[in-house]
Amino acid sequence: MFSNKELKEKAIAVLRENDIDGRRTKASPGLYPHQWLWDSCFIAIGYKHFDINRAMNEIRGLLEGQWTNGMVPHIIFNKREEGGHARKIWGTKMVPKCKNVETSGISQPPMIAIAVWEIYKKNKDKEFLIEVFPEIKKYHQYIKGFRELNRSGLACITHPWESGLDNSPRWDKILDSIRLTYTPKSKRTDTDFIPVEQRPTDQEYNKYWYLVSLFVDCNYDMTQIFKNDPFIVEAILFNSVWCEANHCMSEIAGEIEEENQIFEEWAEQTKNSINDNLYSKEDGLYYDFDVRNRGLIKEQTSASLLPLFANVPNQEMAQKIVEQYIKNPEKYWQNYPLPSASVDSLKFNPKGYWRGPVWVNMNWFIAKGLENYGYREDAYYLRKRTIELINKSGFREYFNPYTGEGYGADNFSWSAALILDMMSK
Ligand code: GLC
Repeated sequence: MFSNKELKEKAIAVLRENDIDGRRTKASPGLYPHQWLWDSCFIAIGYKHFDINRAMNEIRGLLEGQWTNGMVPHIIFNKREEGGHARKIWGTKMVPKCKNVETSGISQPPMIAIAVWEIYKKNKDKEFLIEVFPEIKKYHQYIKGFRELNRSGLACITHPWESGLDNSPRWDKILDSIRLTYTPKSKRTDTDFIPVEQRPTDQEYNKYWYLVSLFVDCNYDMTQIFKNDPFIVEAILFNSVWCEANHCMSEIAGEIEEENQIFEEWAEQTKNSINDNLYSKEDGLYYDFDVRNRGLIKEQTSASLLPLFANVPNQEMAQKIVEQYIKNPEKYWQNYPLPSASVDSLKFNPKGYWRGPVWVNMNWFIAKGLENYGYREDAYYLRKRTIELINKSGFREYFNPYTGEGYGADNFSWSAALILDMMSK
């Protein structure tokens, strides 16, 4: 076992080691050698504890990938790496604002304003807010204008990768309904690094690639995508983050004397829409909404707990979620909480990537959510167990909730970054 001081030094070393060019960090060496959107935000939140300039630069690097329509893509490719994602298939050379940057063509949970607000709370640097505000505002306008197409307040995602939780059991039914008449040409490379049972299946990968080819065929035109994409989902995690990000934008705008009312309104709309449309009174729990098949996707995963992070439920609803789900030993309160799928779900798999293992970012969100509703001791315990988990098994990507065994990538950046944040509480 390492002391807290040693663990912090190790976490810092992981981030430094994964630094690409002072403005970007690999999500992990080997498996993910590029900059990912929400990874980068978590990384910045870690950096703020020991190198706040580097934290700001991570955000600057991320915004360099922003498209002219405002979208911030989920991957900015590392020029020094050939491997990793099959970058060519995105066909997106034309769209990033910065000419020399190559990106993917979809987004990820909009964490940027949240990370920027975290940085600002530490350094009170208004110049930084003034610098990044216009770009983040443009990103939020993009989500508002191009993604809230089904119902106002609820953003739609167009691909499982946009959810951040790639092979979550929530996506099974939609992916199963896609009948491929050919095998996509792109070859997966993840299994060169990680045992196949810890990763999505080939069938899932083929559908992921198929959806990307559909976006290219649609020339990234959202109207076309909404017409043709079988995967259109009002995702509960994405929208919880979207709600909180607008609260943060309102705070940011207030600090630099910009109009902030609009962001408060957007946050309020999202909160109300989540409560009106994504909440099952019967279960006392939130779910994603499948726009094509017009129904809630009733799979119990840790994404259902995310509204706590954004203060979406009232106290009574929150209490139910905490007592009946989070702190229930038959669901999420395991030896190492919290599994990414409820252990009583038929689809639960303790090694299965987003189908059961513990993830540090989810624990980070849920610890904050518990605090929002006064469950301070439980938040403390969740953070403590997460730190113990890393101490036991290293900076792995995900972990077995029963034994704490580590899986997936090693030296995973957000595990290092968020543990630094948790250790500062
Ligand atoms: C996987 C995760 C996603 C993450 C990416 C890079 O695709 O599901 O959330 O952003 O890896 O770490």
